[in-house]
Amino acid sequence: MATDSRLLPQELADLWAQYDLDELQSDGVKFVTAGTPTDWGLPSDVRSVVPPITLGGGIPDPGSLPRQALMEAMQRALDTGDDDAPLRYGGAMGYDPLRQLLADRYTRDRGYPVTRDHFLLTNGSAGAIDQVAAALVSPGDVIITEAPTFSGSVRTFRGHQADIVTIGMDDDGMLVDDLEPLIERIHAQGRRVKLIYTIASFHNPMGVTLSDERRHRLLRIAARHGIFVVDDDAYGDLWFHEATRPQPLSSLAECQGVVTVGTFSKIVATGLRVGWIHATPDVLDRVVRVRFEMGNSPLLHRMLFEFARDGGLDSHINTVRKIYARKVEVLGSALTEYCEPYLTFRKPGGGFFLWVDLAEGLDGAEVQRTAAEEGLIAPAGMAFFPDRQDTGDHIRLAFSWVDDDELREAARRLAHACEKVANG
Ligand SMILES: Cc1ncc(COP(=O)(O)O)c(C=O)c1O
Repeated sequence: MATDSRLLPQELADLWAQYDLDELQSDGVKFVTAGTPTDWGLPSDVRSVVPPITLGGGIPDPGSLPRQALMEAMQRALDTGDDDAPLRYGGAMGYDPLRQLLADRYTRDRGYPVTRDHFLLTNGSAGAIDQVAAALVSPGDVIITEAPTFSGSVRTFRGHQADIVTIGMDDDGMLVDDLEPLIERIHAQGRRVKLIYTIASFHNPMGVTLSDERRHRLLRIAARHGIFVVDDDAYGDLWFHEATRPQPLSSLAECQGVVTVGTFSKIVATGLRVGWIHATPDVLDRVVRVRFEMGNSPLLHRMLFEFARDGGLDSHINTVRKIYARKVEVLGSALTEYCEPYLTFRKPGGGFFLWVDLAEGLDGAEVQRTAAEEGLIAPAGMAFFPDRQDTGDHIRLAFSWVDDDELREAARRLAHACEKVANG
């Protein structure tokens, strides 16, 4: 025992060695497995023979990042003379002019009038989903998610100790026919469904869009049972052609019973970490009541406002839509050319992802592993199923980040990987 009254780190280390962190951690941590939302279970022991091409994550085209415009916007945001507002606490709802800019865009694009009171700025859409869960979900509540779905949101919901029940998908999105029986089954067990989480437009990972007819039915069923629909609209603005432009759920519902989460991550840059929740003001009142981290950066909000104002955001989105529309054509043609007997795929009308159906007998995990050896990083479908039950064998190709030549080379490497797996 130390005789000196001064504290020694070794003494503390010995004291702390008695405790087990597994017992001290919150129940939320116990519900979530280690890793990150961008960890698709790629085996760490796989070594690629060539520098790998990564079609892993939903990240904007690097050449599209508006560095200069953001720098100038930051300059304007900071150039406020004696006013220290950009560098002061900004409040939990976010910078009013940016909220108003979003309201003006939604009013213009979605056909119903909204104000800044319908918007709360968050730390990306991942932060938005976390805040929505904090406001609307208690431990043991059920959240219905699509299967497959964005694995990051599954982690968030588990962290809030929700029970996740899944509903299937096809090329028209969620199988809405199955929804009401599913809800009734869950309620008959004495459990409460609180949210239906959907990525209705340009789905991650499937790339598909919920049909109009299903959108109407989904909203009616959810309202009949008092369940909020959370529409994760991360990719909704990134349609490639007017014909594939989706009608947002919030627009059909005029916001009733729909909580939309949006983000600057996919339309501008993921490093900004700015997103939003769009909902009726009474819902946002609940969200802000449990928002304890004092909002996100007022400085970034001001920079984004300066960047986005006067049509700056619209013109940037128009530019990037064309880039992704071209990339999906490049990847689609290369897959048809190189991979034909081994897979089929559906070309998305927007967003960042192309979902591949592997031919009979090709195992997704094996193709993923072999592709990694061939120099292509792309996750197998399994990673996107909350219960890890893939209904077929799939690979998700994120075409947004790499250039056209790499997309063509990625298709060639995928073909090699499939050939190897097929030939044992
Ligand atoms: C469907 C979906 N929602 C949310 C996110 C999180 O995005 P962010 O928090 O950067 O807005 C992603 C990122 O990949 C996504 O694909």
